[in-house]
Amino acid sequence: MARLLILFAHPALEKSRVHRRLIREAQAIEGVTVNDLYEEYPDFQINVQREQALLLDHDLIVLQHPMFWYSTPAILKQWQDLVLEHGWAYGSRGNALRGKLVLSLITTGGGEAAYQHGGFNRYTIAELLAPIAQTVRLCKMEYLPPYVIFGTHRMDEDAIAMAAARYRRLLLALRDDRIDLAGVNGSPVLNPAVAMLLEG
Ligand SMILES: Cc1cc2nc3c(=O)[nH]c(=O)nc-3n(C[C@H](O)[C@H](O)[C@H](O)COP(=O)(O)O)c2cc1C
Repeated sequence: MARLLILFAHPALEKSRVHRRLIREAQAIEGVTVNDLYEEYPDFQINVQREQALLLDHDLIVLQHPMFWYSTPAILKQWQDLVLEHGWAYGSRGNALRGKLVLSLITTGGGEAAYQHGGFNRYTIAELLAPIAQTVRLCKMEYLPPYVIFGTHRMDEDAIAMAAARYRRLLLALRDDRIDLAGVNGSPVLNPAVAMLLEG
């Protein structure tokens, strides 16, 4: 069983329609650790030792957040700046994270068609996530194609419930090594592989 750590960043969970449902599912799964960064560090005083110890204890790190200004909520940037230390996470002697897997699991208000060249947002999700992908690689980890829940602005309660059920099954499949992660290498997003897995 893979040990999953969810680094969860949502600054206003009380207003959330989607992540509130998702994270409740994650909290109920055995073998999944949810690290709610805004709850843990409301003043942004990140405990670097605690965060590094959590990373060492897990195999797959999930960065779960809404897309904010084509990027992550602020605390996830603070987390990267403080936790991924030179000589620990990267650099010639920084090998602590080598071989771990990282997956971005994000929601976007905009629909999938908006995240294409020539679309409303002009760039693809993979392009917008390039700084994270490259940070992960610099830290000697493997960055998986992101799993994206597009179009949250238009999702009704039924659609959110379906997304939450799919998310739960995705986490179980990741935990139990039921996704061919080598096979998804190079895909722009994980969504088609997850759809195939859940339909099959
Ligand atoms: C400050 C802020 C910035 C946002 N920036 C984007 C954005 O760049 N692209 C996008 O598609 N949606 C953007 N959104 C919409 C959120 O991604 C969307 O509301 C969220 O995925 C819904 O999840 P929730 O119900 O859990 O809050 C933004 C929302 C806020 C509040």
